[in-house]
Amino acid sequence: MAKWLPIISTLLLPLAVPTNFEEFPICKFHLSLQGQQMTCSNANMNFFHMFDIPLNRTHWFKCQNCSLDILDETTFNFPKLNNISIVDFHNCGVRVLRKHAFEKFFLLKILILHNNSIQMLETMCFMGVKRLMHLDLSTNYIKILTNNLFLDLENLDVLNLSFNRIVFINSEAFSGLYNLKYLYLNYNQLDKLEENMFRHLRNLKILYLEHNRIHNIHPNTFNNLINLHFLYISHNSISYLVQYNFKQLTSLIDLQLSYNNLTEVQTSSFNGLKNLRSLHLGNNFLKTVKPYGFIGLDNIEILDLVNNLFEYIEFFDYFGHMEKLRYLWLNRNSINKINFDYKYAVQNLLTVLDVSDNNLTSFNFKTLYKNLPNVKEIVVANNSLNCDFSLDMYKFFENINVTVCSNYNCDPISTETVCINDTDEVTELEIEDFPMESSINTGIRLNYSMLYLIVVLLEWL
Ligand SMILES: *[C@@H]1O[C@H](CO)[C@@H](O)[C@H](O)[C@H]1NC(C)=O
Ligand SMILES: *[C@@H]1O[C@H](CO)[C@@H](O)[C@H](O)[C@H]1NC(C)=O
Ligand SMILES: *[C@@H]1O[C@H](CO)[C@@H](O)[C@H](O)[C@H]1NC(C)=O
Ligand SMILES: *[C@@H]1O[C@H](CO)[C@@H](O)[C@H](O)[C@H]1NC(C)=O
Ligand SMILES: *[C@@H]1O[C@H](CO)[C@@H](O)[C@H](O)[C@H]1NC(C)=O
Ligand SMILES: *[C@@H]1O[C@H](CO)[C@@H](O)[C@H](O)[C@H]1NC(C)=O
Ligand SMILES: *[C@@H]1O[C@H](CO)[C@@H](O)[C@H](O)[C@H]1NC(C)=O
Ligand SMILES: *[C@@H]1O[C@H](CO)[C@@H](O)[C@H](O)[C@H]1NC(C)=O
Ligand SMILES: *[C@@H]1O[C@H](CO)[C@@H](O)[C@H](O)[C@H]1NC(C)=O
Ligand SMILES: *[C@@H]1O[C@H](CO)[C@@H](O)[C@H](O)[C@H]1NC(C)=O
Ligand SMILES: *[C@@H]1O[C@H](CO)[C@@H](O)[C@H](O)[C@H]1NC(C)=O
Repeated sequence: MAKWLPIISTLLLPLAVPTNFEEFPICKFHLSLQGQQMTCSNANMNFFHMFDIPLNRTHWFKCQNCSLDILDETTFNFPKLNNISIVDFHNCGVRVLRKHAFEKFFLLKILILHNNSIQMLETMCFMGVKRLMHLDLSTNYIKILTNNLFLDLENLDVLNLSFNRIVFINSEAFSGLYNLKYLYLNYNQLDKLEENMFRHLRNLKILYLEHNRIHNIHPNTFNNLINLHFLYISHNSISYLVQYNFKQLTSLIDLQLSYNNLTEVQTSSFNGLKNLRSLHLGNNFLKTVKPYGFIGLDNIEILDLVNNLFEYIEFFDYFGHMEKLRYLWLNRNSINKINFDYKYAVQNLLTVLDVSDNNLTSFNFKTLYKNLPNVKEIVVANNSLNCDFSLDMYKFFENINVTVCSNYNCDPISTETVCINDTDEVTELEIEDFPMESSINTGIRLNYSMLYLIVVLLEWL
C-alpha cells in the first residue's frame, strides 16, 4: 500500500496510486449536479503520467497551484473512457503546449488555460478535441498565431486570447474555426490588420480588438465576416480609414472606434454598413467630415462624436443622409457654430441632440425644429449661450414639449441656471414667466447603457 491516498469524499473508487511523485499532491473528488468533479492540488507535470484512477464519471478536472510546465501527449495518461468535459488549469505555470496534449480528453468542451506562461503552441496541440466549445488562453505570453493552430476545433464557440503579446497572426491561423462566434484579441500588440485575416470565421458574431496598437486596417481585412454583429476597435492608433473600409460587414450592428487618432471622416469610409445601428467615434481628434463622409449608414440610430475637435457643424451636410438617426452626441467638442439649414430631400428622425460642453453662443433653434421635427431633447449645458437667446429658446421649445437641458442631469431648471451669471434684466424674472418645471420632467432622458440595451434587444427580437 502506498503511503499516500487521494482523499475520496463520497465515492470509494478502486485506486492504483501513482508512486513517482515528489510532493504530496492530493486529488479530491466531489459530486455536483453534473456528475463527479476532481480537484488536484500542487501536482507537477509528471504526476499524471501513471494516473489510472477510473474517470468514467468525472466530468470536471481542475488543477490548483500546480506546476505543469510542458503538456504533451504523455502528460495525462488517463483511461480512454474518461468523462471529462471541463479542464481548468488556470495559474498552473504551463509554458509549452505540444502536439496532442489534450487528446485523452476526447469529450472536452471547456478548456481553461488562463494566466499561465504559455509562449509556445505547437501546431497540433489542440488535435483530438473536436467537441471543444470554449478555449480560454487569456493572460499568457503568446506572440504569434501560426497556421492551422486551431484546425481541429470545428465546434469552437469562444476563443479567448485577451491579454497576450500577439504581434502577428498568420493568414491560416484561424483555419477550421467554422463555428467560432466570439473572438477575444483585446489587450495584445497587433499593429495592423491584414488582408483576409479573418476569412475563415464566417460565423463570427463579436470581434474584440481593443487596446492593441492598430494603426492600419487593410480594406480587405474583414472579408467573409458576413455574420459579424459587433466590432470593437477602440483604444488603438488608427489615424485614417479608406473608402469602403468596412464594406464586407453587412450584418454589423455596432462599430466602436473610440480612442483612436482619427482626424477627419473620409468620404465613404463607412459605406456598406447598411445594418449598422450605432457608431462610436468619440475621443478621437476629428475636426471635419468630408462630403459624403457618413454615406451608406442607412439604418444608423446612434452616432457618438463625443470629445473630438469639431468647431463647426454643418448639420445636414454631415448627417443629412442618415434617415434613421435618433441620437447624436456632439458634446465635449469646441463647436461655436452649428447650422441647421436644410439642403437635402431627406430629413432624419433625430430625437436627442447633445451639444453640451461646447462653445456655442447661439444657434437657429427655429430652423432646427423646422427641419428636425421629431426632436424631443436638446442638451445645451456648459456652453456660452447668451441669456436673451436662452430665454427665447426655452419659451419656444416649451410650447412644443421639447426638453431643453441646461444641466447634465436635465433637472428642472430655474432662472439662475438659464442665465448663468448674466447681469441685469434676467435676475428679476419670475418663475411664472418661465414655467419650465412640469414639461422638463416629462423629457426622455436616455443614457448610454439604456441605448445599448435597446440596440441589443432590437437585434435579438
Ligand atoms: C469504467 O470503465 C471501465 C473500462 O475502462 C470499466 O471496466 C468500469 O466498469 C467502468 N466503471 C464504471 C463505474 O462505470
Ligand atoms: C458525464 O458527464 C456529464 C456532464 O458532462 C454528465 O451529464 C454525465 O452524467 C456523466 N456521465 C457519467 C457516467 O457520470
Ligand atoms: C503552491 O505550490 C508551491 C510549489 O509549487 C508551494 O511552495 C506552495 O506552498 C503551494 N501553495 C499552496 C497554497 O498550496
Ligand atoms: C496568475 O498566476 C500567478 C502564478 O501562477 C499568480 O501568482 C497570480 O496571482 C495569478 N494572477 C491572478 C490574477 O490570478
Ligand atoms: C476572456 O479573458 C478576459 C481576461 O481574462 C476576461 O476578462 C474575459 O471575461 C474572458 N471572456 C470570456 C468570454 O471568457
Ligand atoms: C495617436 O495619438 C496618441 C495620443 O495623442 C499619440 O501618442 C500616438 O503617437 C498617435 N499615434 C499615431 C500612430 O499617430
Ligand atoms: C470659445 O470661443 C471664443 C471666441 O468666441 C474663443 O476665444 C475661445 O478660445 C473658444 N474656446 C474654446 C475652448 O474653443
Ligand atoms: C465645459 O466645456 C468645456 C469645453 O468642452 C470643458 O473643457 C469644461 O471642462 C466643461 N466644464 C464643465 C464644468 O464640465
Ligand atoms: C404638451 O404636453 C401636454 C401635457 O403632456 C399636452 O397636453 C399638450 O398637448 C402637449 N403639447 C404639444 C404641442 O404637444
Ligand atoms: C458664476 O458666478 C459664480 C460666483 O458668482 C462663479 O463661482 C462661477 O464660476 C460663475 N460661472 C460662470 C460660468 O461664469
Ligand atoms: C443609466 O440609467 C439606468 C437606469 O436609469 C441606471 O441604472 C444606470 O446607472 C445609468 N447609467 C449611467 C452610465 O448613467
